[in-house]
Amino acid sequence: MSIVERLLDAYPREGDIPSEYALAAPLEDRGYLLNGEILRWPGEMTRIDSTVAVRSGDRLAPVHLGYGPVLDEAAGLAAVAAADAAYGDGMGAWPTMGVAERIRHVREFIPRLEACRDDVVRFMMWEICKPLKEARDEFERTVEDIRDTVEALDGLHRASARFVEEKGIFAQIRRAPLGPVLCMGPYNYPLNETFATLIPALLMGNTAIVKTPRQGRLIFGPLLEAFRDCFPKGVVNVLHGDRRVVRPILQSGRISVLAFIGTSAVAASLRALHPHPNRLRCVLGLDAKNPAIVTESADMELAASEVLTGSLAFSGQRCTALKIVFVHESRLDEMLERLSRGIGRLTVGMPWIQGVNITPLPTHGKIEYLTELLDDARSRGAHVVNPDGGASVGALYHPALLSPVSGDMRVFHEEQFGPIVPVVPYRDAREPIEALVRSKYGQQVSVFSSDPEALARLIDPLVNQVCRVNVNSKCQRGPDTFPFTGRKDSAEGTLSVSDALRCFSIRTLVAAKGTEGNKALLNDIVGGGRSTFLSTDGSL
Ligand code: G3H
Repeated sequence: MSIVERLLDAYPREGDIPSEYALAAPLEDRGYLLNGEILRWPGEMTRIDSTVAVRSGDRLAPVHLGYGPVLDEAAGLAAVAAADAAYGDGMGAWPTMGVAERIRHVREFIPRLEACRDDVVRFMMWEICKPLKEARDEFERTVEDIRDTVEALDGLHRASARFVEEKGIFAQIRRAPLGPVLCMGPYNYPLNETFATLIPALLMGNTAIVKTPRQGRLIFGPLLEAFRDCFPKGVVNVLHGDRRVVRPILQSGRISVLAFIGTSAVAASLRALHPHPNRLRCVLGLDAKNPAIVTESADMELAASEVLTGSLAFSGQRCTALKIVFVHESRLDEMLERLSRGIGRLTVGMPWIQGVNITPLPTHGKIEYLTELLDDARSRGAHVVNPDGGASVGALYHPALLSPVSGDMRVFHEEQFGPIVPVVPYRDAREPIEALVRSKYGQQVSVFSSDPEALARLIDPLVNQVCRVNVNSKCQRGPDTFPFTGRKDSAEGTLSVSDALRCFSIRTLVAAKGTEGNKALLNDIVGGGRSTFLSTDGSL
């Protein structure tokens, strides 16, 4: 069978889709959550098609998933008013609520979220073509993150439950909310990376507007009732749409934190909309082009296997994916051979197929973009090394292993976010280090070596270029208790379970000179339970 026939064959015929994963009928979900009510949007709707397609002969018909609301400026402003009113200039019920009570709301939400598991996973498979196992993992990871974040807040709260004394001044130092937050997650991790900012933002007493990703929005439909029932009105608002709804939200000047995971270009244009940029804190997860550096002494079996999963899990659509591979010239042939064989063993198919690695790319225009990168690299001397690399049918793209890649090629610099593995041969370790120094990105790097001296000589310069050096393993965000951040155009703020609580809050304190009079006053306030902030009760 030719590659085109094989790719075509990977698409289901009518009736081949397992009934447990099939969608009942195209959806027309007009719901959005505003000020504690699920409203039905009467206006413009956008068509949502999957890039999973049904084949008949050699024709492919994308599966029509339904329609989703495109909210307008008025809806954006209404959400700002709702989040603003719930925040009440920091005096609303939510920001002044005791930590234990806020945690109670979040804990109530967990089983409601879990009840939506099957719908959320199914929508992820259809709308963003995430393999079933990865969609399930994303769901479980999100539930675990919420639990861990609650635990982390518990610890933070306990640690700040006592007064400190310094130079005769008594103080209670705590973390306080910042204000309404705009949360915008990405299409590739629509649940996990939205919740990675939303939950800490809420736990710290902020109110929130979630603008769902344009792709990956269907998963939010089943969650609206849970949000409505578990949080006071206006604390969580969920909107769908594009810049038309986002622009007025930021231009209102009422948003205190922009939590955005996406491209640095979009982040820059969003923050520029705020009329008082100094009042806007940004928590951003942005572009990355994480390199692997495979040294002379690398264990090649291990390196090839990590590079393969690191580059091609979810078809390369992870911000942490390995997007360029530097290989010492003495090991180049061996590495290419192993990677080429590894790619040949990958399963290309639909998201519900067990063990599938490569699924249809969900983003419009992606295949054309990848083809441009390949053509550009080829015109400058690179070759597609693996059989059938770069072949495509519909949105299914057979991964391309490209070598020798050099600095004059677009794929050396651009974040492909898809299944191309560019390999750059190098002679001197200074070459990959220099590439990292010059790069716009600074998230992570993977280094493969079994020589402690060579490894140490790489680690020391690299830790100041990126924020995580992975030794003999692929790049990744987890475990989610580890700090996840980046330098340059890769991130702003740190997103781990505990760091996120800090990102969405500010330290504030009550201080008094330690006079007898002040001590008596403070004791009275604390002893009488007169203040939520001033309190020595750290137990939840
Ligand atoms: O897309 C970026 C994700 O945060 C990556 O997370 O390393 O667990 O796939 P991951």
